Amino acid sequence: MEKKGFCVWFTGLSGSGKTTISNLLVEEIKKRRGNVEVLDGDVVRTNLSKGLGFSKEDRDINIRRIGFVAHLLVRNGVPVICAAISPYKAIRNEIRELIKDFVEVYVNASVDECARRDVKGLYARAFSGEIKEFTGVSDPYEPPDNPEVVCNTEEETVEESTAKIVARLEEMGYL
Ligand code: ADX
Repeated sequence: MEKKGFCVWFTGLSGSGKTTISNLLVEEIKKRRGNVEVLDGDVVRTNLSKGLGFSKEDRDINIRRIGFVAHLLVRNGVPVICAAISPYKAIRNEIRELIKDFVEVYVNASVDECARRDVKGLYARAFSGEIKEFTGVSDPYEPPDNPEVVCNTEEETVEESTAKIVARLEEMGYL
């Protein structure tokens, strides 16, 4: 039987590892399903969501746009990976209701650890107050209550995190 479309929805702080895990996951899904599309927050903000900022209103618009596009793809049988901070639980749950074939992955790393990594140098600027409304520092992050997968990136390798997601997708019949 033809496999269904589905959406892997990453949520977590900036620098927690969403994009890194999704880069590996994309290859694993490609091997098993042939095609897969990725909607990454940093990329979406350069085109589809260009001009939006980081107020709650703008973040909600950004996440609803990503969810809208993901829904169009999923209903056409395409596996989709979304990787945005998506800090608000209510909006994530709204997207879950819309897409239904929704696999939420909480990429968990503490603010301290993300700040230590500070891949983009943004945490330093957030702590100094230069960047306002920075998630986890001066803006809220609401972790999910019942994510399908939790990746603890302070303890697991990227390979281990990816393997956990693949296993869950197999269990759910998507791979
Ligand atoms: S979301 O909140 O709307 O889901 P999204 O994932 O698209 O955020 O974008 C987050 C990325 O924007 C971060 O990884 C970081 O590179 C950058 N960024 C710039 N300003 C902020 C901020 N105030 N809060 C969080 N991320 C920010």
